[in-house]
Amino acid sequence: MAQLGPAPEERPWDAFLRTTGGDLPADGYAGELQRFIELCHGRGLRSVLELGCGSGPVSIRLLQAGLYVRCVDGHEASLRRLAERLTPAQRSRARIEATAFANLRIEPESIDAVVAVRSINHGVFEDVMARFEQVSRGLRVGGLLFLYVTSDQDFRKRLGERMCSRTTVPTDGPEEGIPHVFPSSADLDAWMPELRFLHRSSHQVRVPRSSPYFDAYSTRSRMQMRLGRMVSSHHTVLAEKVSPHNATTEEQ
Ligand SMILES: C[S@@+](CC[C@H](N)C(=O)[O-])C[C@H]1O[C@@H](n2cnc3c(N)ncnc32)[C@H](O)[C@@H]1O
Repeated sequence: MAQLGPAPEERPWDAFLRTTGGDLPADGYAGELQRFIELCHGRGLRSVLELGCGSGPVSIRLLQAGLYVRCVDGHEASLRRLAERLTPAQRSRARIEATAFANLRIEPESIDAVVAVRSINHGVFEDVMARFEQVSRGLRVGGLLFLYVTSDQDFRKRLGERMCSRTTVPTDGPEEGIPHVFPSSADLDAWMPELRFLHRSSHQVRVPRSSPYFDAYSTRSRMQMRLGRMVSSHHTVLAEKVSPHNATTEEQ
């Protein structure tokens, strides 16, 4: 059986940063991210909470567009990389916060916009589901959400071991040992009832051979990817909050 967990000298997410350089391409979501930015400007939404910003490929795009970004991530080395990459003008609009999602407190209806790219689904099922609900509740009515999240078709599901209900731990690749939840389209509906989807698509992206991400997998997995049997599969979601959080429902 493949050994679970990171190599002893590495902490979770060190391998991701080392092998990808923190900059995976925006394949599959660049167009919708641009639409999200334009909608923020159009609605006068200036502040974005970015969950799991890593070393900032998306944060930098948001900051370049003049938005104020609260960049949250639990991996300090990635955040240091982000800080190094910002211009002084971008730095003045970024709030970089080393925080585990579990410690993040979000007041209901307090946030203009949330972005989470390749991040919201990391953890065990109950925690991930609660995070979706927290985001949905935290947005103000008229606020926007942009998500890019691996789907229930993702190849990592096949490379992993079941840890607990609906939670898979990859046993190969740069995210080896890190628990994942792979949401279906129906999950997205159920976990964010206060949101209306402006765009939603599910699609597959090949991991290019030139990507350092590709090299982080074992020879056998790389062969399967080369043959097109394993592709990265994602939901791209742009949504707006249309109804306030119903506190009485929660208390029942
Ligand atoms: C796959 S990386 C994506 C980074 C970036 N959004 C990108 O697209 O390149 C996932 C990021 O989410 C962060 N992350 C995952 N689970 C987290 C948690 N429970 N608390 C805080 N950060 C977390 C990791 O540290 C990592 O930087």
